[in-house]
Amino acid sequence: MGRKLAIALALCSILGAICVRIVAGRPNIVFILTDDQDIFLNGTGPMAKLRKYIGSQGATFSNAFVTTPLCCPSRSSILTGTYVHNHQTFNDSIDGNCSSNAWQKGPEQRAFITNLKKVGYTTFYAGKYLNQYGDDSVGGLGHVPPGWDDWNGLKGNSVYYNYSLSVNGKEEKHGDSYATDYLTDVINRKATRFLTQRKHDSDSPFFMMLSVPAPHHPYTPAPQYSQLFTSMSAPRTASFNKLGADKHWLIRQTKSPMSNESLIYLDETFRNRWRTLLSVDDMIEDIVTLLDKRQLLNNTYIIFASDHGFHLGQFSLPTNKRQLYEFDIRVPLMVRGPGVAPAQVKTELVVNIDWAPTFLDLAGVTPPQYMDGQSFKEALLGSSRGVVDRTDFLVEHTGEYTLSQPQCPQYNGQPMSFCFPDCVCEDSQNNTYLCVRRLSDTQNLIYCGLEDSELFIEAYDIAKDPHQLTNVASTMDVSVLESLEQSLATLASCSGTACHDVKHPNW
Ligand SMILES: *[C@@H]1O[C@H](CO)[C@@H](O)[C@H](O)[C@H]1NC(C)=O
Ligand SMILES: *[C@@H]1O[C@H](CO)[C@@H](O)[C@H](O)[C@H]1NC(C)=O
Ligand SMILES: *[C@@H]1O[C@H](CO)[C@@H](O)[C@H](O)[C@H]1NC(C)=O
Ligand SMILES: *[C@@H]1O[C@H](CO)[C@@H](O)[C@H](O)[C@H]1NC(C)=O
Ligand SMILES: *[C@@H]1O[C@H](CO)[C@@H](O)[C@H](O)[C@H]1NC(C)=O
Ligand SMILES: *[C@@H]1O[C@H](CO)[C@@H](O)[C@H](O)[C@H]1NC(C)=O
Ligand SMILES: *[C@@H]1O[C@H](CO)[C@@H](O)[C@H](O)[C@H]1NC(C)=O
Repeated sequence: MGRKLAIALALCSILGAICVRIVAGRPNIVFILTDDQDIFLNGTGPMAKLRKYIGSQGATFSNAFVTTPLCCPSRSSILTGTYVHNHQTFNDSIDGNCSSNAWQKGPEQRAFITNLKKVGYTTFYAGKYLNQYGDDSVGGLGHVPPGWDDWNGLKGNSVYYNYSLSVNGKEEKHGDSYATDYLTDVINRKATRFLTQRKHDSDSPFFMMLSVPAPHHPYTPAPQYSQLFTSMSAPRTASFNKLGADKHWLIRQTKSPMSNESLIYLDETFRNRWRTLLSVDDMIEDIVTLLDKRQLLNNTYIIFASDHGFHLGQFSLPTNKRQLYEFDIRVPLMVRGPGVAPAQVKTELVVNIDWAPTFLDLAGVTPPQYMDGQSFKEALLGSSRGVVDRTDFLVEHTGEYTLSQPQCPQYNGQPMSFCFPDCVCEDSQNNTYLCVRRLSDTQNLIYCGLEDSELFIEAYDIAKDPHQLTNVASTMDVSVLESLEQSLATLASCSGTACHDVKHPNW
């Protein structure tokens, strides 16, 4: 028995049960989060190392979703294990509670990392946090969120060059030299240093979160990758460059065919997104190789996921997220670690609010009552359907808008946002909706209610219509519609255990 372990056990006999759990060989956890990476358009396509080091060694979840398709609200859900209506971060602005003072005093104090800290984890964070993190009006870079021992948080939204990090509360400025400043590589080097400096026989397990900018705008690849994939273009899916005539107001306003400028832009965007992901792939290889070398790999879970999906030309929307369709709410999710059988595809329904309770469960910590999500540890470690007995979850989005869009004269100054020069806007005040997404052995559906002047309803039978070309709200079986409405009513205001195991009656 090592000396440290002997001392720890001696202390435990004095302090009792809590302490026994601290030294009981908890696993390490590495959580890699990408920004805006879809799965619907083959967003993990270029990541051969991800497949080699994580996918083929563990589980790939084919039905992973987020409960809101926008950065700051989704990240707030990931950190707290709660739906948007409970953490109350509605958009990417401070006045929408993105990293606001109210967030810092409330939900941030309850982020899962504080629970891991309490049982003795050493914690490390590097990369993008919340879009408004570091703003002077909300504590600047001096604000270090509770629970993180080694904090390297990016000021503001994802970029690759010319940014500041808060390194444990002190500003570290970066310019635009590839060798020293490319953000994905900086995260890689800081993570490598953290792992290298850890004492070999350290008793405390670690939790590491690596939150890379790729493949988010401005889509800047590393120089050695900037000329790859030149013959590729964005996938021409069934909804590509099509009108959504039976959809809500914002989608009905798009134009098809799209302008050549938009097509050229979105194809180049597709290529650059893939190029930026190659640096993430390199990071994955470096981290896994180092964990292996230090004999830590067999006691470490590695989770790879994205904060939401993305679209490139679907329903003639050039490039963005924020929509209720599969391309924006489905995400990649892969996990390897002790007890996870290699090379499995798991079909269980897993959503972003489940990740925090799962991290805690893997660490041997009971997830707190307030978490709306559920641990999928059983699904991960078992060979059959896990304990999450849920078929229905909620998707929430509050449309973002700025007051005037002079470049889009046909909209008469209506409040919208993210408008392209050829007058396609990606969001608007009344692109505000609640949906129930249902996935069971017999039903694969989504039902959405828009908060607009038409109280517009969209529904899709995704088993029959995976590209969501036909809105079936008016033709759907009445009993199915009623059960979806009932779930929506339950989920829209649920909290904690009331959000768990929501399922349709015939499940
Ligand atoms: C996704 O990308 C990979 C790598 O280029 C390719 O092999 C695969 O066929 C693509 N899948 C689809 C569905 O396009
Ligand atoms: C911000 O969050 C707090 C609770 O954390 C909530 O009381 C408040 O209403 C939210 N504000 C906005 C503008 O959403
Ligand atoms: C970084 O900032 C400098 C100084 O403002 C500017 O000249 C340079 O173009 C920027 N680089 C990038 C990649 O944006
Ligand atoms: C767009 O490009 C296609 C071929 O690439 C060309 O035939 C067409 O005329 C162009 N349309 C416009 C409006 O420029
Ligand atoms: C991991 O591997 C090391 C070295 O081979 C071994 O000593 C240790 O018992 C293993 N741990 C687990 C959890 O399998
Ligand atoms: C974000 O949400 C707040 C509170 O609801 C709202 O006042 C603000 O206008 C929103 N910001 C945008 C850009 O939509
Ligand atoms: C959506 O909002 C815009 C701007 O306020 C308005 O012009 C339009 O009528 C609204 N449409 C619906 C269906 O609510």
